[in-house]
Amino acid sequence: MENTKKRSFSAIQPSGTITLGNYLGAIRNWVNMQDDFECIFAIADLHTITVRQEPSALRKHSIELLAMLLAAGIDPEKSLLFCQSHVHQHAELAWVLNCYTQMGELSRMTQFKDKSAKHANNINAGLFTYPTLMAADILLYKADVVPVGEDQKQHLELSRDIAGRFNSTYSDTFVLPEPYIIKSGARVMSLQNPTSKMSKSDENVNGFIALTDDEDTIIRKFKRAVTDSETTVEYREGKYGINNLLNIYSAVTGKTVIEAAKEFSGKGYGDFKLAVGEAVAAHLKPIQERYKDYIGNKDYIVSVYTKSAGIASKIAESTLRKVYKKVGFLQK
Ligand code: TRP
Repeated sequence: MENTKKRSFSAIQPSGTITLGNYLGAIRNWVNMQDDFECIFAIADLHTITVRQEPSALRKHSIELLAMLLAAGIDPEKSLLFCQSHVHQHAELAWVLNCYTQMGELSRMTQFKDKSAKHANNINAGLFTYPTLMAADILLYKADVVPVGEDQKQHLELSRDIAGRFNSTYSDTFVLPEPYIIKSGARVMSLQNPTSKMSKSDENVNGFIALTDDEDTIIRKFKRAVTDSETTVEYREGKYGINNLLNIYSAVTGKTVIEAAKEFSGKGYGDFKLAVGEAVAAHLKPIQERYKDYIGNKDYIVSVYTKSAGIASKIAESTLRKVYKKVGFLQK
């Protein structure tokens, strides 16, 4: 890795089905960042247990996510790719940062409010301190940028606040991370309810495309996509379903939404939906083929994350040592 490049850190939770939304909104952009940034990617398994997980499912989802990231084009020759739980410094720095974060700040996090409403029977302390662990993830590596979607912006803002507070209490220790807003990042909406984000937890499986869905399933789901009672394919305020399909089509074909809308002017919704389904299936095909190879080669996956974790923990340890020294712990 070259030192002249800015460093990027990002992580993704191994919480189950990986959707087209995860791919077009995040993963694909990570792949594209690898040439311009020194990229560090983690499987955020520590974060995932803030919601109760079945242990065997968590293991399965972690391996599947690693295989999918490799299939999508995360290149271990260029970037680090490891499990957060394998680099113990994440949990250790998170503890320290907890002591420099106010209850009030954490109470204002909208994700905490949403998740505690959703999991009312398990509002655990980890769910509350989730953002300080995220701050630790980022600050350990002195990341310059963090590619984030809308839903994680508030957490990144808090990471900056915590870093700034620590720096001014002691001396310059952490780099204040900037959000890296992805220009071409598509916000993919549910195919069944196009005003809400595509999510694997949609009760209706037709609402999301899993990256492992086969061609027939993909096409069938697009054919059933909810649109509107009009008949023309146009990109226009209020045409949520059609706009979403145009965004997806544009993201997988490289055409602009305007070009895409033109291509379908005079055609019916049926033809349009079929074309979007076919384009998505064609785009995912090579990724799915590589995924099959990776998932059948666990030894390779283990070798990637083991090597990366070794490198990551050296960087992380150097930051943690500085922090321990500054707060006043005796040196080992
Ligand atoms: N909380 C993020 C999410 O659910 C995942 C995450 C964990 C993360 N640590 C991070 C993202 C650090 C960016 C930087 O999407």
